[in-house]
Amino acid sequence: MKEPIGTVIAARDSPTPSEFKLVITEIENSVPLRKGQFIAVESADVDGTLIATVTNILKTNRYFESAEAVKEYERSAGHLSFILPTERWEYILAEGKPMGRISQSGRLERVTFPPGPGDKVFLASPEMLLQVLGLDPSGVNLGQLLHHDVPVTLNLTRLFQKHVAILAISGAGKSYLTSVLIEELLLRKPEQGRVAVIILDVHGEYTSLATTSDTDTYKFSEKTTVINGPYIQLAVPKLTSYNFASFQPNMSYVQIRELNQIIKKLRSRSGKTGKPYDLNELIGMVEQSEMNPRTKEAMMGWFYDLENTRLFGVEENPSLKANIRVGEATIFDLREIISLRKKQIIVNYLINRLFNLRKRGEIPPFVFILEEAHQFCPEGPAISKGIIETIAREGRKFYASLVLISQRPVRLSTTVLSQLNSQIYLRITNPYDLKLIGQSSETIDKSSLDALTTLNIGEALVSGSAVSHPIFIRVRKRYSPSPSISIPLEDVAKRYEKKNT
Ligand SMILES: Nc1ncnc2c1ncn2[C@@H]1O[C@H](COP(=O)(O)OP(=O)(O)OP(=O)(O)O)[C@@H](O)[C@H]1O
Ligand SMILES: [Mg+2]
Repeated sequence: MKEPIGTVIAARDSPTPSEFKLVITEIENSVPLRKGQFIAVESADVDGTLIATVTNILKTNRYFESAEAVKEYERSAGHLSFILPTERWEYILAEGKPMGRISQSGRLERVTFPPGPGDKVFLASPEMLLQVLGLDPSGVNLGQLLHHDVPVTLNLTRLFQKHVAILAISGAGKSYLTSVLIEELLLRKPEQGRVAVIILDVHGEYTSLATTSDTDTYKFSEKTTVINGPYIQLAVPKLTSYNFASFQPNMSYVQIRELNQIIKKLRSRSGKTGKPYDLNELIGMVEQSEMNPRTKEAMMGWFYDLENTRLFGVEENPSLKANIRVGEATIFDLREIISLRKKQIIVNYLINRLFNLRKRGEIPPFVFILEEAHQFCPEGPAISKGIIETIAREGRKFYASLVLISQRPVRLSTTVLSQLNSQIYLRITNPYDLKLIGQSSETIDKSSLDALTTLNIGEALVSGSAVSHPIFIRVRKRYSPSPSISIPLEDVAKRYEKKNT
């Protein structure tokens, strides 16, 4: 270990197993310690090395504690500095909060006994941090630990298996961070364990991953397929009556049962003829059926309504079974689809199908990334909400993971939010969002929550199951080209004018 940076002191209520104070050794022209940094105390009292976070730093000077002394000193215009060397009385105190203890045998244990006054304090080493934060050298590298030269490599299982939430205000860097996450997944080698990545890209922000260019050193374009929104077709024969009911929430139980009978007949007929059926055939069957006329009319209206979306056909486009591949990304670029209802139907269908294919082992373990998640699983009703809740609840058993991204956490379904066990927060300023995060996370303390409002672009707080302790990170630079969305307004305006004159 290097030079000590401080010494534990005996204060009125500390040291205790949950907090201690240290006086910082002065090092000329440098800031020895920052709030949020990790420190280590080698202490005979705790048997092993105690690792702690710096929760606060205070500067103090006894000379300036008394109003009269300060007044006298100011009046003397510096003449007193010979006899009162005030700088020598200035010192820095820090408060530390123990996180764990690395025992002599190298195991991480709980802290049950305080460090001793006089114990020397050091900066925690990268090896210690790896262990105490639960990082994995062959994990997903999101960037650097803030104030430390340590790469934040998150274990794949711990990060994804119980789903991820990426939450922050607009422009804080959510999509940028997500691109880094996708790059990391695409860079994994077979021996590290690879997954398929599926991205629901509402603004067409991720398509730049697929552009071939000289700067594409890592060949992301070879591992990325972009599916344009208008090309997507949902296969009618793959839909059950319950799937249709999720598109049309007014359907009653009796209607679902009637529809089920019709679908059964259609399936048996197409089983014999080998010809798949489409929505028109389904509508024809509903028309011929002996349903109550009002039920029939309502049902036909709904199906005509679905037909008008032009999303449905006899076959699935693209075939999900054929297109979802391990170590590759499939981007569904929905920027050309304006209707929210249509987007929700697509998301409903895709997640349903992917989850079923995954349950049957017909596609690899996957990570499904959903931008603008509050539009698809809001607190109120939405066509795609039910299936997102299902996968949030049951996905982990089948290695089907969700990454939900949103700038409005309070508008997200609380049921879904509570199932997203890894959280990455970038800058958040809305007091309601902050309150929600404070309530829903047991591991984030008040001071970390306050720090969320002051984060810079690309700085984030990672918490939950991905890490053993919440950490602030600086997101690494992306390797792939930035999306055209981040081009300055001036340049876009100039380009437009040049093209149109
Ligand atoms: N880690 C980073 N390093 C460098 N630049 C970044 C970083 N993160 C974000 N940026 C830049 O900041 C801008 C906003 O980032 P981004 O588009 O990711 O924000 P966002 O949170 O997704 O916003 P929105 O909610 O509007 O989609 C972009 O121009 C991006 O290039
Ligand atoms: Mg974004």
